[in-house]
Amino acid sequence: EAPLRDLADARGIYLGTAVTGGRLTGGYADTAAAQFGSVTPGNEMKWGSVEPVRGQFSWTGADRVVDFAEAHGQEVRGHTLVWHSQLPSWVENGTWTPDALRAVMTDHVTTEVGRYKGRVDHWDVVNEPLNEDGTLRRSVFGATLGESYIADAFRAARAADPAARLYVNDYSTDGLGAKSDGMYALVERLLAQGVPIDGVGFQAHLILGQVPSTLEANLRRFAELGVDVAITELDVRMTLPATDAKLAQQKADYAAVTRACLAVTRCAGLTVWGFTDSDSWIPDFFPGQGAATPYDESLNPKPAYAGIAEALGPV
Ligand code: G3I
Repeated sequence: EAPLRDLADARGIYLGTAVTGGRLTGGYADTAAAQFGSVTPGNEMKWGSVEPVRGQFSWTGADRVVDFAEAHGQEVRGHTLVWHSQLPSWVENGTWTPDALRAVMTDHVTTEVGRYKGRVDHWDVVNEPLNEDGTLRRSVFGATLGESYIADAFRAARAADPAARLYVNDYSTDGLGAKSDGMYALVERLLAQGVPIDGVGFQAHLILGQVPSTLEANLRRFAELGVDVAITELDVRMTLPATDAKLAQQKADYAAVTRACLAVTRCAGLTVWGFTDSDSWIPDFFPGQGAATPYDESLNPKPAYAGIAEALGPV
């Protein structure tokens, strides 16, 4: 049976996974390498991870994931440069003039993208910039700088690595709706201003049985703006315990998302947010829910794995 990464290659997309750098040994590493053609560090490239104290950098975790990817012929999705969460406290709780915050933000982008120049294929430059109603989130960046911080982050990233594909990424923008309308309008404005944006990431943190019926149409309208699209953090959570019926629904859900990406020519790839239930954020953030990934806690493939494989089809 062909690995997912080969099935995906044959269809012209990549199949990726988020990984935890500290777990990349043994069976976890073997599966990550064999099955996936792209990796995203789940936490290791976030600002709070790489510069917890101003001017003190800590690249070990990020390096480990990038080195692993290179050793296994995998692409890397860099995640993420400018986000309101997992910020170092010196950024989050600092008192900033607009000019000072703009300078530390663009320095951060320049430093991190520059460090990995030529080794990161896609960057989530700006993560989760929008509120649920599609307006600009009043993060420290949005509140201090307004929407202009987004353009500045993309320009700094492009200058630091002209070959990397630069994405804006968000959740609950998967189907048509107010938040995805807000993202669509944002991307239109950025393109009109000549901002170097190459793609839009759709996280797709989904609930069992609730793949948006408008997912494909939504991906397509963004693609028609002239940017790539990608599914960047797919998982499908369920109320525990998992039953055969729930796992069968989850298989259908994973297959539906895979088919939507395949149906849109500019869908570059699909990444699952952790490939094993033992390495998923869901149980910690949604008590009583879990089993959201394609492999169980013992690294056995679940029906969801077959859902992806069958949607990708035979080589
Ligand atoms: O590293 C510390 C460890 O030292 C400490 O003992 C432990 C105790 O809680 O916490 C560890 O940090 C945790 C970190 O994951 C690494 O495991 C944080 O508490 C925890 O909050 C953090 O959660 C991450 C979450 O982002 C934070 O928002 C998840 O792993 C990560 O999967 C998740 O990923 C995000 C994407 O970046 C953006 N989109 C949504 C997605 C899911 O929330």
